[in-house]
Amino acid sequence: MEQKTVPYIKDQKGKRKLTMLTAYDYIMASILDEQDVDMILVGDSVGTTILGYPNTIPVTIEEMIHHTKAVVKATKNALVIIDMPFMSYQESVEQAKRNAGKMMKESLAGAVKLEGGQNMKDTIKAIVDIDIPVIGHVGLTPQSIHRMGGYKVQGKGKEAERLIQDALAVEEAGVFCVVLECVPRELAKEITGMLKIPTIGIGAGPDCDGQVLVIYDLLGLSGDFRPKFVKRYANLKDEISKAVKTYIGEVKEGTFPDDSHSFH
Ligand code: KIV
Repeated sequence: MEQKTVPYIKDQKGKRKLTMLTAYDYIMASILDEQDVDMILVGDSVGTTILGYPNTIPVTIEEMIHHTKAVVKATKNALVIIDMPFMSYQESVEQAKRNAGKMMKESLAGAVKLEGGQNMKDTIKAIVDIDIPVIGHVGLTPQSIHRMGGYKVQGKGKEAERLIQDALAVEEAGVFCVVLECVPRELAKEITGMLKIPTIGIGAGPDCDGQVLVIYDLLGLSGDFRPKFVKRYANLKDEISKAVKTYIGEVKEGTFPDDSHSFH
């Protein structure tokens, strides 16, 4: 397996599809790394998947660092990316540089990701200029849920041009790849063709340079939450429920532990 670096990821455009998955803990990260996923994103989706928040807005820098440290410890090959949470970079360019530096220094991730397009161009450029690699994120940006009025497909109709300008702006600012979230597939294809950096799609169709999913969605651990773009590759919720139910039954009826699980 090859150690995935920032230049390596950038260089894959047009050669092969890139893979990214989220992880928030040591065991999951080690499983994904063993399967040779290219990038592990410690997304601020940690807020909704692990921490029980209603959305990603409450996630803190400390929570992101805490989870990313565990993921980094488990990862030998994939590039680990730490998501910058809401209000850790929006205040000023100086604040963004300071927090990106703190998050890299304390988590040992290989890059940061932040949401926004033209409005974040100067911020991204300033972070890249101090040698911190950045992944962009345009389209549906969950930290802007209140402005967008919900989790809706972005870039439809007249909005398409704004999205194209957002993608071009983050590329010009120096990101080494960009996440396109919930964008019509034709528009994602057009943007992918325009950019020199890889696009990583989530709900953006098959023509992006790579794909990302939240690991719990892929594994069927997100309950009833099932947007159209999520493909469930397993149904672990049912598997876990079955195992726990059997354990409870066996303990109650006295068949676990049996002799083979006891010391003499
Ligand atoms: O926080 C996250 O998990 C993300 C991905 C969905 C791209 O930003």
